Amino acid sequence: MLADIIDILICPHCGGDLRQNGASLICSNGHTANIARQGYVSLLGSHSGSHTADSAEMLAARDRVLGAGLFQPVADAIQKEIGDAGLEDVEGAVVDLGAGTGWYLAGVLEVHPDRIGLGVDNSKFAARRVARVHPRAGAIVADIWDEVPVKSGAAALIINVFSPRNGEEIERIRAEGGRLIVVTPTPDHLRELIQPFEMISVDPDKEARLEKTLVDAEESLSSGLVEWKMNLTPSEVADLVAMGPSAGRLDQARLAEQLAGLPERSEVTGSVQVWTR
Ligand SMILES: C[S@@+](CC[C@H](N)C(=O)[O-])C[C@H]1O[C@@H](n2cnc3c(N)ncnc32)[C@H](O)[C@@H]1O
Ligand SMILES: [Zn+2]
Repeated sequence: MLADIIDILICPHCGGDLRQNGASLICSNGHTANIARQGYVSLLGSHSGSHTADSAEMLAARDRVLGAGLFQPVADAIQKEIGDAGLEDVEGAVVDLGAGTGWYLAGVLEVHPDRIGLGVDNSKFAARRVARVHPRAGAIVADIWDEVPVKSGAAALIINVFSPRNGEEIERIRAEGGRLIVVTPTPDHLRELIQPFEMISVDPDKEARLEKTLVDAEESLSSGLVEWKMNLTPSEVADLVAMGPSAGRLDQARLAEQLAGLPERSEVTGSVQVWTR
């Protein structure tokens, strides 16, 4: 467990400060959380859930997709935003809400050599990966829909990529003057795969809802569209299907049939909206 990150965490039961006590974290009320052998800590509260957590297989597929650079334009857009961020005077960590493999978090930490990072995810398989993704990254298992066990104002930069959002908690943990970068898929994202692979398509009203969930903050969100084309092998298509929320919807025989029918290369669209404040 990254020792510095413990300073920004709070007890999921009473909100108190945590300190390390051997292989656990403990608050002054005696609530404890074990530090897993893999270096993350689970801070699920009594109202937290993990039914939406990604499985080990989904994370492995996501890792291959990100490792192959297929979503590089998203990382580039995040880097560009940070380049313009003017965060020099804002103290605090980089917090990735719904961090997955931690790939985007690691990219941000690379260009912020003075910051530490925290990946929050309700999947222990994600937390295991985040704990080793970068020497300055820490990882916790926590539910974004519950109170996020991070101190108020502790985040100079929050990133939230393809993951659930809790506007109230985002604003509570964001430092004064801190930045937020949210990436959401548009209805065109992976559009060539939606019908053949029975993928869940994006609800066009989702953007309106996003604004609504994040409205309470003083500054409004600005947004930009990022679109790119991917030239994919059948196994890359299989990974894109396997890493998403539609994984497991298609039965194995039908999935194999669809993959077998693909040409050597398929052109697939990437399309996301990048929201910042
Ligand atoms: C689509 S993935 C995106 C992961 C990563 N940001 C990326 O783009 O590669 C969504 C992630 O959110 C996590 N997740 C889903 N529901 C969550 C919740 N309620 N609290 C915390 N994490 C959650 C999943 O386990 C998964 O890792
Ligand atoms: Zn406590």
